[in-house]
Amino acid sequence: MKRIIVLMLLTAFAMNGFSQNPEETPEQKTERMAWWTKARFGMFIHWGLYASPARHEWVKRYERMSNEDYEKYFEIFYPDLYNPQEWAKKAREAGMKYAVITAKHHEGFCLFDSKYTDYKATNTPIGRDLLKEWVEAFRAEGFKVGFYYSLLDWHHPDYTIDRNHPLSASSDEEYEKLNKGKDMDVYRQYIKDQVRELLTDYGTIDIIWLDYSFPTRKDYDHGKDHNDWDSENLLKMVRELQPDIIVNDRLDLLDVEGGWDFTTPEQYKVSKWPEKNGIRVPWETCQTFSGSWGYYRDEMTWKDTKQLLVLLIETVSKGGNLLLNVGPTARGTFDYRANEKLEEMGEWMKYNNRSIYGCTEAPADYTRPDHSLLTYNPETNRLYVHLLDYPMKWFTLKGYEGKVKYAQFLHDGSEIKFGKPRHNVTHQESKAKDDVILILPMVKPNVEIPVIELILN
Ligand code: GLC
Repeated sequence: MKRIIVLMLLTAFAMNGFSQNPEETPEQKTERMAWWTKARFGMFIHWGLYASPARHEWVKRYERMSNEDYEKYFEIFYPDLYNPQEWAKKAREAGMKYAVITAKHHEGFCLFDSKYTDYKATNTPIGRDLLKEWVEAFRAEGFKVGFYYSLLDWHHPDYTIDRNHPLSASSDEEYEKLNKGKDMDVYRQYIKDQVRELLTDYGTIDIIWLDYSFPTRKDYDHGKDHNDWDSENLLKMVRELQPDIIVNDRLDLLDVEGGWDFTTPEQYKVSKWPEKNGIRVPWETCQTFSGSWGYYRDEMTWKDTKQLLVLLIETVSKGGNLLLNVGPTARGTFDYRANEKLEEMGEWMKYNNRSIYGCTEAPADYTRPDHSLLTYNPETNRLYVHLLDYPMKWFTLKGYEGKVKYAQFLHDGSEIKFGKPRHNVTHQESKAKDDVILILPMVKPNVEIPVIELILN
C-alpha cells in the first residue's frame, strides 16, 4: 500500500514537474496561435483504405477484421479521380482557412511515402505520395495545413492488442496470449520515426493532431495512455522540429504544462467556453456532416445547412473554432452531399464571414436578444447579431442604449434604422429607457441566417 502511494506521488510529481515549451509565456502562446484563433473555420479530411468498404473508418474494428481480411482494400486502392486542387478550391469557397488530413488513421495505412513501412499509398495501385500532393495543393490555395496522425495502429505487428483493437480479447489470459512477442518499444520508435518524417519532409506544418489516448481505468481495462506513446518525448520532438506548430490535446498530457495547445470537444456542442482551472482555453470542436469521419455510403443522418451554420456561429459565439470533416470516396472525390453542404455554407460565408473571422464571444454587457447568437470582433469593435428565427419588424436590443452608432445588414450593407416602440396597440411592449429598437424589413432577407452588424461607439 505504502509503495503504491509513493509511486502515485512520484508519478504525479513527474507529470507536474515535466513542462513542454517551458520558456513560452501565455502572451507568446496567444501570439503563436493568433492565425488559428482568427481563422475559426477549418476542414478535417479523413481518407484512407476505409473509403472502399465505405462503412465507417472504424470498420476494421467494428467487423473484427484481421489484417488478412482487410488486405483486399489495400490491393484495390486506386483513387483515380483524386485532385487535391479541387478539394482545396471547395474548402476555400466554403470559407475555410485551414485543413487537417489523416496522414495515418487507426487502420495503420499511410497516405505518405514513409521509409518505415510498406503499408502506404505508394505501394497500392495508385502508387503516389497522396499526402505530398495534398500539402502542395492546399498550400497553393492559401491554407494553413495540418496532419492527423493516429497513435492507434491496427496493422503494425508490435502494436499490442487493446480494448479498441479489432482483435480485442475478453480475458487477461487471452490478451497475454495475443500480445506475446509484441514489443511496444518498437512501435513507440515507429511513431517517432513517422512523425519526424511528417514534420521534416513536407515543409512547414501548422497543426498536428495526435489521436488518441484511452487510459486503463477500473472498469475500462486494456487501454493506452501517455506511457504507451512516450507522449512527453514525442511532443518534445514535435516542438523541436516545428516550433510554431499547434498541437491538440489527446496525448494524455492534460496536466502537463505545454502538453497541449487546444482542447477538442468532438461531435457535441459545449454549453460555454471550456475552461481549465478556471481559465478559458483555446478550443476547436470537430464535427462530421453525417456521423462518420470516413466515407460512409449508406449513412443518411446528414445535418442540414442551417444546422451547420448555427454550429459554426455558435462555436464562434463561445470563442471556439469549427473543424468540419469531409470523408472523400475511394475514387478520390467528395461525396455529392458534402459538396452541396460546402457550397451552401460558402454562399452564406461569402457575404457574412465578417461575423466569423477574427470574432469571438461578445463582451458580457451585451445581452443576447431572443432567438439570436452574438459574435464580436474586438479589433473593429463591431457586434454581430445572427437572426436564427427572423423577427417581426421591431427588434429590441435590451440595454444597448448609447452603445450603438450604426446598424446594417451584413450581407448587403443596407442600413437598418433605429425606431421607437409601437404605439396604439393594446399589448404594447414598453421601451425601457436603455433599450435600442431596430426597424427590420417585414420579409426575411434572402439569406439563410441574416446578420445585423452593429458599429459600436
Ligand atoms: C475519434 C475517432 C476517430 C476520429 C476522431 C476525430 O478519435 O477514433 O475515428 O478520427 O475521433 O476527432
